[in-house]
Amino acid sequence: MKKLLFQLDTDPIPNTFDVVVAYDAGVDHVTPLGGITPAEVGRLVEGVVFTRPPAAKKFSALFVTGSNMAAGEAVLAAVRGQFFGQFRVSVMLDSNGSNTTAAAAIAQLAAEVPLAGKRAVILGGTGPVGQRAATMLALAGASVVLTSRSLARASAACRAMNERFGIALQPAVASDPTTTAASLAEAHIVMTTGAAGLELLPQALWANHPTLAVVIDTNTTPPAGIGGIELQDQGTLRHGKRCYGGLGFGGLKLELQRVCVAQLFDANDRVLDAPEVFALASELVRRR
Ligand SMILES: NC(=O)c1ccc[n+]([C@@H]2O[C@H](COP(=O)([O-])OP(=O)(O)OC[C@H]3O[C@@H](n4cnc5c(N)ncnc54)[C@H](OP(=O)(O)O)[C@@H]3O)[C@@H](O)[C@H]2O)c1
Repeated sequence: MKKLLFQLDTDPIPNTFDVVVAYDAGVDHVTPLGGITPAEVGRLVEGVVFTRPPAAKKFSALFVTGSNMAAGEAVLAAVRGQFFGQFRVSVMLDSNGSNTTAAAAIAQLAAEVPLAGKRAVILGGTGPVGQRAATMLALAGASVVLTSRSLARASAACRAMNERFGIALQPAVASDPTTTAASLAEAHIVMTTGAAGLELLPQALWANHPTLAVVIDTNTTPPAGIGGIELQDQGTLRHGKRCYGGLGFGGLKLELQRVCVAQLFDANDRVLDAPEVFALASELVRRR
């Protein structure tokens, strides 16, 4: 039976990254579909849940992608709402690589540094990667501040994650060097998850910081999101702090995404979102 993956992308044109990784994970055929909203989900789900006999349903799966986290979550909820009884297939949410990127970074970090009780700040945290990184740090026991240029956007992102995952993210504004420095008071960990190619944290704000011990960037498009670190940094000590660049956990992210996609075809009832992807990432790190 052929393994079929339907990519439901909330952007008009589906991304190519997830198609390549899906084939590398062993999928036989990927169907990328763009512009997906909850309104389209009904007939797409019917097409995969009614076509194969119970024992073969696990050979069809859904993968929700796109650049908007809330839109991806709405599609995931609509997909799950269509399932009943055995009429279901496995589904994963990974808008803009959010779950796999965040899980790779945080699981790698958790293996090297205890996170419980630490204060973590996610700069530029309102995008998909920031929301999931904040969530995973909170699930690992850290107290997490998520920043934006706008308090309303930070508050909305925190509210959404808190309601969804039962955590307590705190919003803050970081829109210039003064407010960014204020958001970092007493912080042990800072992670930048701003849009590609933006420096959100200049070196002067972290190099001599009295409490920061870990500095993590997710941006892979120059310039780095954090001044003074290198793309390839992987726990590199700079100014006495452990530094991670956007490519420092890139290999783990890709391996994790392949493992997640492969797992979708092990059973017809998997739902992979932040907690499940984080658990898989932690397992991969333990086995390395
Ligand atoms: N390393 C990897 O394997 C990997 C994988 C996927 C993604 N990434 C990278 O991870 C980062 C986050 O991805 P994402 O998709 O979550 O990001 P995103 O949605 O594109 O942007 C995140 C946030 O950046 C802020 N922002 C946008 N323009 C800005 C500006 N001019 N000045 C200051 N802040 C600005 C916005 O927050 P506010 O408007 O609320 O301030 C936005 O919500 C990106 O750099 C992406 O390239 C890396």
